Amino acid sequence: MLISSFAQAGAQPLAQPAPPPARSADHGVFARDLLAALAVRPHAISPKYFYDAEGSLLFDRICELPEYYPTRTELSILQRCAGEVARLAGPEAEIVEFGAGSLRKVRLLLQAFERPARYLPIDISGDHLATAATLLRAEFPQLDVQPVVADYTQGLGLPRASGPGRRVGFFPGSTIGNFTPEEALAFLERAADTLHGGALLLGADLVKDPQVLHAAYNDAQGVTADFNLNLLARANRELGTRFVLEQFAHYACYNAPLQRIEMHLVSRCKQSVTVAGQRFELDEGESIHTENSYKFTVDGLRALARRAGFKPGPVWTDPQRLFSVHWLQAP
Ligand code: AVI
Repeated sequence: MLISSFAQAGAQPLAQPAPPPARSADHGVFARDLLAALAVRPHAISPKYFYDAEGSLLFDRICELPEYYPTRTELSILQRCAGEVARLAGPEAEIVEFGAGSLRKVRLLLQAFERPARYLPIDISGDHLATAATLLRAEFPQLDVQPVVADYTQGLGLPRASGPGRRVGFFPGSTIGNFTPEEALAFLERAADTLHGGALLLGADLVKDPQVLHAAYNDAQGVTADFNLNLLARANRELGTRFVLEQFAHYACYNAPLQRIEMHLVSRCKQSVTVAGQRFELDEGESIHTENSYKFTVDGLRALARRAGFKPGPVWTDPQRLFSVHWLQAP
C-alpha cells in the first residue's frame, strides 16, 4: 500500500506569479478545504496543509531554532530514558511510529532496545518514508523495516504484530497537541486498540511561562512566519491562487484558558482572494486560523490517556519541566 497522498511541490520564491495549478486528487482535497475555510467565519484550516516539501523543510529548520525548545528537550529526555524504556518494552519489540518523524529520535530507541524486531513508520508522505527506510535498513540490518503509507489520523490498517515481542507505539514531538481535544482522544483510543498488549511512548509539550511559548512560535529569524505563510505559498503553487504573501501577517499567541498556542494568518488590508473560481473578501485584520498547538499538564495528559483506555506508567521530564515523555500501557 505504497501510495503517497501528499504532493511534493517544489519551492518557489514568494510573490512570484503562480504556475498553472497541477491536477491531482490531493490538490482537489486541499482546494476543497481551503474553499470551506474561506466560506465560513472565523476562517480555519487544518495544519496538515503546512507539510508539503517546502513546509517540511521549514519545519526541520524550526526544530533547530534556539527558541524552539521542544525538539532538543525531547531528544535529551529520550537519551536519558531510552534504557528504561527498553526494559519496559522487552526483547524483540516492534516499534510503530505515527508519522515518519526525525530518525534521530527513533534511532535512540533502536539503539537501546534488545534485538528490536520490526519498525513500522506510518506517514502520509511516501517519499519521506522511503528515505527513512533505506537509511535505517543500512544501519540496522537485522531490523525488518516496513513503511506504511497512510494517514494515521484517519485509522490504522496495520499488519498484525508478527513476532514474540511487544508492539510499542511511538508518537514524539507533541504532534498530539496539534489535534483538537476530541481528535486527541479519538487518536489515543485507536492507538490503544492497535497497540493491544503493548504500549505507547508519547511526547507531550507542557504548559509553561507564556513568554517561553511566545518566543518559540515567534522566532527572531522569522522561520515560523515563513512556515505559516507557506500555506498560502503552497496554494499558489498547487492551486494557482494568487495570494500576495506580503499582505498577510504571521500571528502566534498563547491562549491561556485553552492551554494552546494559536497560529493565524492575518490579512493586513481589505483584499479579495480567488480560489477555484470563487471570490472571497477578507477584511483588514481578519484572520485564517491555521494551527493550534495544545500544551498539557502531566496529570492532564495522563487523565486523557486513561479515558482512552491506557494505563499511564512512568513519565520523564527535563529539569525545567518544559517537555514530557509518557509510557502508556495499552489494554
Ligand atoms: C509539529 N508540531 C508539534 C509543531 C508544534 O509545535 O505544534 C508544529 C509547529 N508549528 C509552529 N512551530 C512548530
